[in-house]
Amino acid sequence: FSLKNYNTFGIEASAKKFVAVHSISELKTILSTNKNEKKFILGGGSNMLLTKDIDALVIHIDLKGKKTIKEDEDFVWVESQAGETWHDFVLYTIDNNFGGLENMSLIPGNVGTTPVQNIGAYGTEIKDTFVSCEAMDIETQEMKTFTNAECNFGYRESIFKHEAKDQYIITSVVFKLTKRNHKINTSYGDILAELAKNNITEPTLKDVSNAVIAIRQSKLPDPKELGNSGSFFKNPILLKSDFEKIHQKFPEMKFYEVSETEVKVPAGWLIEQAGFKGKRFGDAGVHKNQALVLVNYGNATGQEILAVSKEVQKTVFDMFGIHIEAEVNVI
Ligand code: EPU
Repeated sequence: FSLKNYNTFGIEASAKKFVAVHSISELKTILSTNKNEKKFILGGGSNMLLTKDIDALVIHIDLKGKKTIKEDEDFVWVESQAGETWHDFVLYTIDNNFGGLENMSLIPGNVGTTPVQNIGAYGTEIKDTFVSCEAMDIETQEMKTFTNAECNFGYRESIFKHEAKDQYIITSVVFKLTKRNHKINTSYGDILAELAKNNITEPTLKDVSNAVIAIRQSKLPDPKELGNSGSFFKNPILLKSDFEKIHQKFPEMKFYEVSETEVKVPAGWLIEQAGFKGKRFGDAGVHKNQALVLVNYGNATGQEILAVSKEVQKTVFDMFGIHIEAEVNVI
């Protein structure tokens, strides 16, 4: 079974067996009747690089549905099943005038995988509005609720990348969103500039969403046109003391303070300085508008993209002494 249409990098790789599940009971049955089979859980396929065929039963989570489960005067608790497309879900909340997800418009992928790496963009992360998620234990098929605190969210991090890795399938997620007094977040310079271009001074949720969409479309390739997985690397976080030494050598280096002792450096800047922006190696390459994004021009293999990522890491390390870690799951 070809996985080419199930990963946004558009890599040709095959699965030994493939099944899509549309309900919790179907999922239970598949898991309990394939106890001894190796399994691979696939959501939107937007944060992985396939470097080989998958010698396992691939289970594609296609659970659909979204609804309000509770509300008071100020807030609404909205639940989405894991297989909903993230951006469609964001638009649905905005259409209902529910605030909190607008800065994360147009992020590829499905709702069920958003907690795994605590997706974020333009000053917000899902941990800011995430209440809980339901997940099925792959071994026992029991359902378990993970609260926000239990998810141990960090920058592109959660329990699902660590202690709970490969043990659960997230089936639905609940977000607490505002019904009024929305906390419009235009702290990210690009958003303010985009709004100013359109003479918007008091933006609505929809205005912010539109601004984010415009920014993303100007910098980030559309996976439908050019295979990619968004940022391939995380922005490295350095101890201030280490950063100071590097900054003396490279005074033009951009940085953001993340705590009293730590500084985040934009990996896109490091990669651009290392000369990779827009570079192409066969069908694999570094995007011309955003150096943090690796792209597949058509027929690149996962191995070829991986090789480019290693070359980028090595050159950035040799130049700056900074290790940039992959954000994408390399399979
Ligand atoms: N930069 C460069 N050259 C580049 C790219 C960026 O010099 O080729 C510099 C920019 O000039 C800017 C800074 O790096 O000063 C930050 O760039 P940008 O605003 O594009 O954001 P980013 O740090 O590169 C992160 C997220 C994105 C998210 C944006 C906006 C990570 C790993 N990536 O990118 O998330 O959309 O911020 O919030 O944190 C993703 O995770 O897949 C993703 C796209």
